[in-house]
Amino acid sequence: MSQLVWSNDLNTGIDVIDSQHRRIVEFINQLGDARQAGDRAAIGEVIEGMVDYTLSHFAFEESLMEDAGYEFLRGHQKVHELFVKRVADMQAQFKAGNDVSDELHGLLRRWLFSHIRSDDAAYVGAVKGNMKALVRDQSKEGWLSRSLGKFFRRR
Ligand SMILES: [Fe+2]
Ligand SMILES: [Fe+2]
Repeated sequence: MSQLVWSNDLNTGIDVIDSQHRRIVEFINQLGDARQAGDRAAIGEVIEGMVDYTLSHFAFEESLMEDAGYEFLRGHQKVHELFVKRVADMQAQFKAGNDVSDELHGLLRRWLFSHIRSDDAAYVGAVKGNMKALVRDQSKEGWLSRSLGKFFRRR
């Protein structure tokens, strides 16, 4: 299956978010490669890494929305939650020996770009304004690296 290719309309304009989204795209493409190679152990490893990273991304994104007082935070959280549940179900099936990696790969490919273009794009205005204010406020210096450290494991 062809690789997912980043296109400029996926950029939110919030660099830290864009680089996280690109990392998730990389995971999805790595999953495609591992599938093509028919390497079950590699597929399992990629799924694990991707789930872990995506959970961190969701938590980070939700904290930005919360800090900004974004009015549709709850709805956005719900969308993340349902997605996480679907992926976790598939991961459990994979671990139980069912080859669901094709289905999972398809879901990820369809879901991610449409989520970035609609749900994520919707919070950009609110979050960006708040981030600028935080950066201007000297007393909050370092908040970005602090919150990244909170959600992402050093690797
Ligand atoms: Fe996102
Ligand atoms: Fe999101």
